Parts: sequence; structure tokens; C-alpha cells
Amino acid sequence: MPKTDPIGIFDSGVGGLTVVKSLLDKMPQESFIYFGDTAHVPYGEKTREQLLTYAQDIMKFMMKKNCKAIVVACGTHSSVTLPLISNNYTLPLLGVLEVGARQAIASTRNGKIGVAATQATVDSRAFTKSIVSLNKNVEVMEVACPRLVPLVEAGKLTGPEAEAAIKSYFDPLLDWQADTVILGCTHYPFLVPSIKKYTEDSLVLIDTAGETVDELKALLESHELLNDSDSEPVRQFFVSGEELSFYNVGKLLIGDVIKHVDKVKLS
Ligand code: DGL
Repeated sequence: MPKTDPIGIFDSGVGGLTVVKSLLDKMPQESFIYFGDTAHVPYGEKTREQLLTYAQDIMKFMMKKNCKAIVVACGTHSSVTLPLISNNYTLPLLGVLEVGARQAIASTRNGKIGVAATQATVDSRAFTKSIVSLNKNVEVMEVACPRLVPLVEAGKLTGPEAEAAIKSYFDPLLDWQADTVILGCTHYPFLVPSIKKYTEDSLVLIDTAGETVDELKALLESHELLNDSDSEPVRQFFVSGEELSFYNVGKLLIGDVIKHVDKVKLS
């Protein structure tokens, strides 16, 4: 497999751009294909069966595009579908769950870890299981935050709506005295300034993107797939829904790297 082949990155919408941002920073030489499944956003309210179909269709698309590795840049797929599909592929395939769990264990001082995530992720209890498998002495409280993804998809990162939603989801975590909260959905790091403002910076917020990219780098190195050529990287963005809003909000979130967005129908 050529080292210059792209890395596939996917999410329901703009959330996985948190991983793209970190990839651009840490491995700018890599080409990538980003897929935002905007025809099906938000994932948080979908069933396991629906999510499994989406994951299989997206993986098929990524295979056709000759991706050399895949980052499931989505807490929901990492929690619900990745455990079901990971054995079906031989290429490096990683999600954001375990890195989040590891970072939270390393961060907590009082042993109280909060998880803010989608309803589907919370229902799976995947974060709790992953955290407790690393350390039985910590407590975990998971909170579903269904209003946050639509806000980020609309580019509403600040203002009264974002503040009210953050208050309703973070008050229970503050009352419970969590000292560390995993942002278990990849959309949420874009709300960090608003979350920090509301919580008066009293929580360690775990953004999984950076360590996911570090893990990806190590994985590519071990498979001898790291792009060490000086060829110009190719960066492509695809969506299953409407292109314009992804283009506009995506540019707001990560800037001019998004030059063009193509719509594809997967199934
Ligand atoms: N960004 C995704 C996640 O990390 C999907 C959120 C959604 O579409 O509900 O869970």
C-alpha cells in the first residue's frame, strides 16, 4: 500500500474536524479524505442498527478511495459500532474511546470522571466500561447532551442558546464534583471556550483529538505507512447531505483548508 494514500476520517458532520485540525498540526504531510455523514446527523438519536449500516457504508466508501488507515472521529461510532466492525478490516482503524479513557484516568485527582456525550454513546456505557477496565477505583458519571451537536452544526458556539444548553448538562457534573470531564463527542471541543466560561475553568476538559492523532502516527509508523515523501498532500471533504452549510461552518471551525465539499450518496 503506498504511503502517499490518504487517511480516511469520518463523523456525522463537522465534529471530526477536531481531529482534522490536530492532524494538520501534527502530520501536515498526510493526505486525507474526510466524510461528514450529514444526511444522518445527529447520530446520538439513532439506533445501533442504523449506526451499523452507516458505518459499513462509510467504510466501503473509504476502501474504494484506497485509504491506508481510518480514524473513526466520532464518539458515537467509536462506542457503538467500532467494536462490532473492527475485526472485518485489516488496515489500521482507530476510534476516540480508549484515548479519552486513558487521558481522564491520568488527569483525575479526586477519582470522579464525567463523560459528556451523545445519547447513543451514553446508552452504550462504553466510556464507563473503558475507564473502569483501566482503573476500578474511579467513579464515572455520564451525561447525554443532545442539544450540543445541532448547535455546533449550526456554528452557534457562543451566545444564549449555547450557554443554556451547557448549563443544563454541566450543572449535574459540577454538583457531583467531577474534576475531569471527557468531551466524548467530537463536536464538543468546538464549545470549549463557552464550557470553560460557564464552569469558570474548574474542570479538566478532555479533548480526544490530539492523542488520537498521536496514536494514529504511532500506528502508521509501526505499519511503515507514514508519508515521508515531499509530495503535496491532497485534502478532500465529502458529505452525504447538503454541501454549503458544511462548507461554511467547516471554514468557521478550521479555516481555509476546506476548499471544496462534494456530496456523495453512499447506499
Ligand atoms: N461527533 C459525533 C460523536 O462524537 C456524532 C454526534 C452526533 O451526530 O450526534 O459522537
